[in-house]
Amino acid sequence: MKNIVILISGRGSNMQAIVDAQIAGANICAVIANRPDAAGLAWAAERGIATAVLDHKLYAGREAFDAALTTLIDGYAPDLIVLAGFMRILTASFVNHYAGRLINIHPSLLPAYTGLHTHERALADGVKIAGCTVHFVTAELDHGPIILQAALAVLDDDTVASLSSRMLEQEHLIYPQAVRWFVEDRLKLINGRVHVDSPAPAAVLIAPPVL
Ligand code: GRF
Repeated sequence: MKNIVILISGRGSNMQAIVDAQIAGANICAVIANRPDAAGLAWAAERGIATAVLDHKLYAGREAFDAALTTLIDGYAPDLIVLAGFMRILTASFVNHYAGRLINIHPSLLPAYTGLHTHERALADGVKIAGCTVHFVTAELDHGPIILQAALAVLDDDTVASLSSRMLEQEHLIYPQAVRWFVEDRLKLINGRVHVDSPAPAAVLIAPPVL
């Protein structure tokens, strides 16, 4: 069994997808939010998952908050920490403490469009392919070894709402898959790149075009 702690800030739809996937060998021990109003907390609590809130506004700074968060997380003896819409920039000491067991999902084909407003920026650039990425977290924001990506075609009449909604469907496919591979000990980091152990699947998912 692998102990998993999921961190959220909002609705937590990726957290829900991971819980609903009922991954064999995965023990979701807690869902932690940095905002008391994070909607995903109630969803998790209804399913009997331990929840906790650590309100970042009550801490003097990033270091103090991350130190308290580390203490809280480590109480669950986690093998894996999953960032699922956790809207915080993390300190290097936090990230280093969880090196190799901290993963994130980002709604772009990294290394393109790190940071916020990814869909707005992709649409403004007129890209024809957009995507999302699950990656190991390093101290640099939205960087780190890529585990799995999904790509989809951008349509001429796409808006931020339509693109982000189609993207979310892809996120809900690849995040549970990446967690499954981690739980199965199939992810190997070799020279900063992630290899998925045998049988080696393609670590990319291409969404069928919308007709
Ligand atoms: C997702 O788009 C995720 O890629 C990004 O934040 C959003 C979180 O959505 N990091 P949810 O809270 O999982 O529904």
